Amino acid sequence: MKRKLAAGNWKMNGTNARLAEITALATAHPAPGVDILICPPATLVVQAAALTADHAMMIGAQDCHPAPSGAHTGDISAPMLADAGAGAVILGHSERRENHHETNDLISEKARAAHAAGLIAVICLGETLAQREAAQTLDVIASQMHASLPDSASAANTVIAYEPVWAIGTGLTPTSAQIAEVHGLLRSLLAERLGAPEAAALRLLYGGSVKPSNALEIFDIPNVDGALVGGASLKSPDFSPIITALESAS
Ligand code: 13P
Repeated sequence: MKRKLAAGNWKMNGTNARLAEITALATAHPAPGVDILICPPATLVVQAAALTADHAMMIGAQDCHPAPSGAHTGDISAPMLADAGAGAVILGHSERRENHHETNDLISEKARAAHAAGLIAVICLGETLAQREAAQTLDVIASQMHASLPDSASAANTVIAYEPVWAIGTGLTPTSAQIAEVHGLLRSLLAERLGAPEAAALRLLYGGSVKPSNALEIFDIPNVDGALVGGASLKSPDFSPIITALESAS
């Protein structure tokens, strides 16, 4: 049966001192009823993985290079992340699409590299406010999904996170109907691409201003299999009730 997923994206936040939040989460959820993934900055992956070696929690990274090695100063490859103890990597986050001009093709290559290294690729997509206001949301989502999902994708090695750009870090969230519409579209596009059983098993996350106060409502929406959480994943007293809400929705 599909396990729901509570994923935290720490973005460029956290030094050694923040690892205490991971220990606190592991203590608060010794036998979680959902999968938990924390993606700290790359500098903390080794320590975070060591801290959670005896816990079901998975540690992930926030980006990888498409090549396994080579002359790419400052980049980190998927096999390096796996070697450091990561089990997953976030790819195509809107902050990288915008700040680093990442294209769907590049994201697809990165996801293929993640799969080859045995990592779960958490592929992010989402529309901007201008695109939503121009009624382009469903077209944008469909084209991002088709172009950033490599042929190596399966339910076991891929998670898709719908993160409307305008909902990230703003406190704004789409209505339940808006989330349901996009997640329903993703599920049916995946069925065309991967076949219905594989599409049903692939986890679709919602991300963008998820917090303890709105988690239950979001997890009640059809085709929402969990959340990708930014700000509220940085402190265990905020992330822990989100995990509990997902457990109760499962
Ligand atoms: P916030 O939860 O801070 O809105 O961030 C969402 C996000 O970008 C997760 O990847």
